Amino acid sequence: MSEDVMVRQDGNVLVIALSRPEKRNALTASMYAQLAQSFQDAEVSTSVHSILLRGNGGVFTSGNDIGLFLNHDAEGPHEPAAASFIRAVIALSKPLVACVRGHAVGIGATVLLHCDYVVASDDARLRFPFVDLGLCPEFASTLVLERIVGRTKAAEWMLLGAPIPAGEARSAGLVNQIMPAELAEEEALSIAQRFASKPQMALRATRALLRQGGDDSLAERIDWESEVFDALRRTPEAQQIFRLFLDRTPQAMPTHG
Ligand code: COA
Repeated sequence: MSEDVMVRQDGNVLVIALSRPEKRNALTASMYAQLAQSFQDAEVSTSVHSILLRGNGGVFTSGNDIGLFLNHDAEGPHEPAAASFIRAVIALSKPLVACVRGHAVGIGATVLLHCDYVVASDDARLRFPFVDLGLCPEFASTLVLERIVGRTKAAEWMLLGAPIPAGEARSAGLVNQIMPAELAEEEALSIAQRFASKPQMALRATRALLRQGGDDSLAERIDWESEVFDALRRTPEAQQIFRLFLDRTPQAMPTHG
């Protein structure tokens, strides 16, 4: 397994750090494999409630190691290595927080589209450089970016490929929050801990509803929400929350942030 990906658990949060700072955390085939494995393990672990993805060395990632595009014999085809990582991210039922410091290029920007919350440092720069590299965006990013920021911004960002300052990414809705660089990681961890402290079944069910996209009719969505709502209402977790509320003793109330 790759030593360029560091994984540690902080309470109920799994912290995954890209750690190849001398190459600006450019992602190799072994890093993709380690990432895919870590996300798959996080999904099945009962003690992991949320995941934080970050980069070491003041950089998120410079994206795919460009050598991977060139040297297919040494590293194998591009698609399977990167795809195993993104597919494991998309398959998560648990919230994923990203902390972006410095550059988030290529797949580093693409993965943000599949996160639930993005904290960026004020010096962060996102970039979709695919056209300039003679390539095209991948992993449904042409679909999801447009949903998040609209056709106009998606076209500007993906066709021109200029670096996107953190403030612009936040105004467009791709970044949730901007922090001074030295505080960004602490803030991102605290957001991941807030997710981890929520009633887990309710959190994951709501996340799944949000991720379904906009293809349902209102009536279909109401039916689906109503089915999930009723199933959640009957769970011991929800029943206990209702009882605690009705008891109303201050120390008995849950303290979800
Ligand atoms: N793949 C392979 N090596 C990379 C890399 C990448 N994606 N990004 C950076 N590196 C390497 C550089 O070749 C350099 O290696 P060296 O020290 O052996 O010469 C080292 O990392 C530092 O890169 P440098 O460009 O000097 O750092 P910087 O801080 O000035 O700039 C970036 C950072 C991210 C803006 C710049 O490195 C860059 O544009 N990288 C390519 C991004 C890209 O197009 N990725 C492909 C996505 S599909």
